[in-house]
Amino acid sequence: MAQKKLGTVHIAILGLGTVGGGVYKLIERQKENFEKKIGCQIAVKKILVRNIHKIRDGVDASLLTDNFDEIIRDDEIDVVVELMGGIHPAKEYVLKALAAGKQVVTANKDLIAAHGEEIFGAAAEKGLDFKFEAAVAGGIPVIAPLMKSLAGNDIEEIIGIVNGTTNFILTKMTAEGMEFADALAEATRLGYAEADPTADVEGYDAGRKCAILSTLAFHSWVTDKDVITEGITKITAADIHFAKEMGYVIKLLAIAREVEGEIISSVYPALIPQEHPLASVNDSFNAVFIRGDAVGDTMFYGRGAGELPTASAVMGDIMEVAVDMLMDACGRTGEVCYRKLPFKPQGEIANRFFLRMHVEDKPGVMAAIANVFGINNVSMKQLLQKSLGADEAELMIVTEKVKEKNFRNALRLLTEMEIIKGVSNVIRVHGLK
Ligand code: NAP
Ligand code: HSE
Repeated sequence: MAQKKLGTVHIAILGLGTVGGGVYKLIERQKENFEKKIGCQIAVKKILVRNIHKIRDGVDASLLTDNFDEIIRDDEIDVVVELMGGIHPAKEYVLKALAAGKQVVTANKDLIAAHGEEIFGAAAEKGLDFKFEAAVAGGIPVIAPLMKSLAGNDIEEIIGIVNGTTNFILTKMTAEGMEFADALAEATRLGYAEADPTADVEGYDAGRKCAILSTLAFHSWVTDKDVITEGITKITAADIHFAKEMGYVIKLLAIAREVEGEIISSVYPALIPQEHPLASVNDSFNAVFIRGDAVGDTMFYGRGAGELPTASAVMGDIMEVAVDMLMDACGRTGEVCYRKLPFKPQGEIANRFFLRMHVEDKPGVMAAIANVFGINNVSMKQLLQKSLGADEAELMIVTEKVKEKNFRNALRLLTEMEIIKGVSNVIRVHGLK
């Protein structure tokens, strides 16, 4: 295909916070190289913010606007880079940009996980690019590999640590014995946490990323509402301590699997063996395993959040859009979802479980627990007991793989028994052979 002459690609950035500010810096840093790298210049024409009076060091104030219509009406603007976050008005702005014939780049996982089908549809209808590498795992390339490099595979499984904030918190709690609140405050100060950290600590952010990964992996729409989501707020120092004693660390995992034509898409904290490759993914780092039927196991590792790592992914998308424009190849994404797969019901999903409970410390207790497990097809793999004095003990059990409904039945029966003084926590276990 003949290369068109395209002097400058003009972009508008919506939002100049952590990521928007990083993108602005990278454009400044790279401006001498664009021509050589991609054959055209990239220039910021406008930046939309809420407050145009806020002092923004190093930013040309004449570019700032608080009026989105100025951007839509500007025919010179080729690409809208949405970095505001949230659903509204981001959704309306993205749809208006596409309707006006502008290419779109975003880092907004909330938006894609909830309204991906509508937005992909709008971009496809207009033959425009819609790119979102930064939406999952920040600076780590996972979207492009899934959509391009691994396109010749049927994807079997994705397992990822995709939330930097929770990984940072769990790492600090594990390695430094830090309290949850102190670790969260530090993650916020470093710019990893969302404006409202509930989305991070309750697993919603990872759930949105899991929905996007599941959609692209299995070519069937998965929204954030379809993802079974549990956060880390119930994980205590004691869980971390006893898990460590039994040879595990606790990580928040996103799991996407296709099993016999059904999708499993879940986010939950899990015990993983200390020697598992994901166990050494610490601080705000993310890692994503993708298993394809042809390629086997692949692993992507790097910074999943923060100003420049996330801006790096956004910048890659902007430059790819510019090349697409140059080559007249915009909107070349195939049909993203050409299947409609059902979801495996939660009760039917098989997992191992870590159960921590206070029990009476007297003869017959273990036999009674084993009996309840036995009648529900739950088999024990590992056991640790710590005396709490005064005829009570802390009991930790790791089960073999069992359907969730069987485990929950056993748990219900256990909680009705007098010898069980209280269930402290139930956490899934991952990565054991
Ligand atoms: P942020 O620091 O909170 O910045 C948001 C920016 O958007 C601010 O400049 C704000 O303007 C502007 N804004 C918000 N609502 C607006 C509105 N209605 N009209 C005009 N401007 C508006 O957010 P961020 O951390 O950069 O995140 C941006 C996006 O990247 C989100 O979708 C997030 O999920 C995603 N993301 C973030 C990271 C990360 O590490 N932070 C990583 C991956 C993906 P003012 O400056 O005037 O307040
Ligand atoms: N709050 C998110 C995280 C930012 O901690 O991973 C990156 O999406």
